[in-house]
Amino acid sequence: MLPELPFRSRRSPVVCLHGCVASSQPLASVIGTDILKKGGNAADAAVAVAAALNVTEPCSTGLGGDSFCLYYNARTGHVRGLNGSGRLPKAQTLQLMESLGYTKGSPPPPFHALNITVPGAAACWCDTIQLFGSQKLSLADILEPACDLARVGFPVAEVAAFHWAKWTKAMREAGRELGGDFLPNQQPPKHGQVVTNPCLAQTFQEIARRGKAGFYEGKVAEAIVEIVQENGGVMSLEDLKNHTSTEVTPISTDYKTVRLWEVPPNGQGMAALIALNILENFPLKGMGHNSADYLHLLVEAFKLSLADATHFNADPALVEVPVEGLLAKDYSQQRAQLIHMDSARTGKEPGIPRGSDTVYFCVVDGEGNACSFVNSNYMGFGTGLVPNGCGFSLHNRGAFFSLNASHANCIGPEKRPYHTIIPALLTEAGSSRLLCSLGVMGAFMQPQGHVQVLLNMLEFGMDPQQALDAPRVFVQYDEASEQWQLSLESGVEEGVAKELRRRGHVLRWPVVGHDRAQFGRGQVISVGAWWDPATTPPSDPPTHRVLWAGSDPRGDGCAVGY
Ligand SMILES: *[C@@H]1O[C@H](CO)[C@@H](O)[C@H](O)[C@H]1NC(C)=O
Ligand SMILES: *[C@@H]1O[C@H](CO)[C@@H](O)[C@H](O)[C@H]1NC(C)=O
Ligand SMILES: *[C@@H]1O[C@H](CO)[C@@H](O)[C@H](O)[C@H]1NC(C)=O
Ligand SMILES: *[C@@H]1O[C@H](CO)[C@@H](O)[C@H](O)[C@H]1NC(C)=O
Ligand SMILES: *[C@@H]1O[C@H](CO)[C@@H](O)[C@H](O)[C@H]1NC(C)=O
Repeated sequence: MLPELPFRSRRSPVVCLHGCVASSQPLASVIGTDILKKGGNAADAAVAVAAALNVTEPCSTGLGGDSFCLYYNARTGHVRGLNGSGRLPKAQTLQLMESLGYTKGSPPPPFHALNITVPGAAACWCDTIQLFGSQKLSLADILEPACDLARVGFPVAEVAAFHWAKWTKAMREAGRELGGDFLPNQQPPKHGQVVTNPCLAQTFQEIARRGKAGFYEGKVAEAIVEIVQENGGVMSLEDLKNHTSTEVTPISTDYKTVRLWEVPPNGQGMAALIALNILENFPLKGMGHNSADYLHLLVEAFKLSLADATHFNADPALVEVPVEGLLAKDYSQQRAQLIHMDSARTGKEPGIPRGSDTVYFCVVDGEGNACSFVNSNYMGFGTGLVPNGCGFSLHNRGAFFSLNASHANCIGPEKRPYHTIIPALLTEAGSSRLLCSLGVMGAFMQPQGHVQVLLNMLEFGMDPQQALDAPRVFVQYDEASEQWQLSLESGVEEGVAKELRRRGHVLRWPVVGHDRAQFGRGQVISVGAWWDPATTPPSDPPTHRVLWAGSDPRGDGCAVGY
C-alpha cells in the first residue's frame, strides 16, 4: 500500500465517436462499453457499470446502498431523474429513539443498525432500465457481466485496496467486524489480490430472475431484516416490500451559456446551483485560475450555499423545501453581497456532518443519450453488516438524520434523509443540446467539485481530463472547533495559501497522498469541444460528434470508448 500516492503520470482525454463510459474502475468502464456494443443504451450501460462497481469497489458502493440517476433523452432533449434513496423504517420514530436512550447529544454510533435506511439501489437499477432503458436487453443481460466478475474474481485496484483496509480498521476500532464475504482470510485484500464474491453473484441472479422482488421480498429481504434486527434495528419485511423509487423533476440553473442540471432535494444538488448563481456575479476569468482572489470567492460562495443546503434540505415529501426561492437570481445577488474580498466568513452553522464514500460514473451512448449515475453506501462499507449469504453490506445513510425535533431533517418514520450523492448533466442554455455528463463524488465535496470542474472547462478552457487533474479546494464546517476549515490540494501555490490565510481562512496546505481523497473523484464525458475557446462555439453543432472524456487521477478509474 502506497502511503504517498504521488500523482506523477499524466493522461490525455479519451476521444471517441460512438459511445463512452467513465468510472472509477477500469473493469467496470469496459463492461459499460460492452453493453453499449450489444445494443444497450446509456441507461442500460449505467446499471451494468453500477453492478460491476458493486463488485470491484464494495468499499464505496453497492446493493446495500442508495442511488440517484439523471437521464438525458437525445430524441426529446428532456432530462429526467430517479430518486433511488430509501426511507427510514416505519417503526423508527423520535419517541422510539428517545426510549432507547438516544438523543441529539448522544446519538447511536455511526455503524449502528438503527442507521440503516431501506437500501434503494436495487429498485433504482430496475426502474432505470424500465423507464429509460433501450428495452433491447433484459435485466439478466445487464447484470450478467457483474455477476461473472463476482463469481470468477477480479484483482483489487490500488485506491480501492487502500479504502478497503482503512474502513476495515475503522470498524474494528468501533467494535464491528466487517462481514466475512469481504475479508478473505480475515484480512482486507491487497492491491492486485484476486477476490471473488459468490454470494453477491447469487444475489444478482436473484434480482435478474425476479426483478425488484428478488431483493425486497423473499430470502434476500429476510436476511436483511434478520441481521438488522439482531443488531438492534427495527426494519421489517414490510418496510422493504413497500420501498419504491420516485421519478423526480431535476432542478437547474443557467450560468452564462450553459444550464446545469442536478437532482432536487433530498439531494444536495441545489448547493451547486446556489454557488454558481452567486459566482455569476463576479468576473472569475480575469482573476486567473486558482489565484487567491478566485479561490477566496469560490470558498465564500460554497460556504453560503452549504449553509443554505444544510439548513433547508430534507425530504420534500414531508418537509417544505423552498427550492425556487433559493435558486432565484435576485436571492443569489443578495447573498453575493455578503462576500468581502478581504476577509473570510466565519458564520457558523449547526451540525454539518462529514465523511462519505460513493462512486460516480457517466455514460454517453451512440444515440446521444446520457446517463449520470451515483451509487453509495455513505461511509465506506456503511455499517459493515452483511446479510447472511447475500454478499453485500448494509449502508448507514441514516447517519444524516438529526435527533433535534425542530430540525427539518429530524428523523421520522418512512422519511428520506439528507442525501449528499448527486449526479449532474450540462446542456446548452438556449437549446436542449447535451454538453456533458459530469459528477464528482465525496460527501459535501460534490457540489464544490461540480462547480470547480465546470468552471475549469467553461471559464478556463480546460479539456475534461485537465479539468479533473487541476488541484481542488474543499471547505467544510467543523463542529468540534466551530469553524470553517479549508483544504488546499497539493499544486495550489504557496503564495496563494499564504494570502488566503491572511484573509482569515483556517486552512491546510498542501494536502497530499491518500488525504487527497477528500477532493472527491470525478468523471466527465463531453459532447464536442465546447469548452475550447479556439474551436466550436456552443451554439454551432459540430459535423462530427466527438466525445471527450476524463477520469479523476485521485481514483483507480479511466474512461473508455469506441
Ligand atoms: C455490493 O454492494 C454492497 C452493498 O452496499 C456492498 O457493501 C458490497 O461490498 C458490494 N459487493 C461487492 C462484492 O463489492
Ligand atoms: C406499507 O404500505 C401500506 C400501504 O400503503 C401501509 O398501510 C403500511 O403501513 C406500510 N407499512 C410499512 C411498514 O411501511
Ligand atoms: C426523492 O423522493 C421524493 C419523494 O419522496 C421527491 O419529492 C424528491 O424530490 C426526491 N429527491 C431527489 C433527490 O430526487
Ligand atoms: C445515526 O448515527 C448518527 C451519529 O453517527 C446520528 O447523529 C443519527 O441521528 C443516527 N441516525 C438515526 C436514524 O438514529
Ligand atoms: C434544533 O434545530 C433548530 C432548527 O434548525 C435550531 O434552531 C436549534 O438550535 C437546534 N437545537 C439544537 C440543540 O441544536
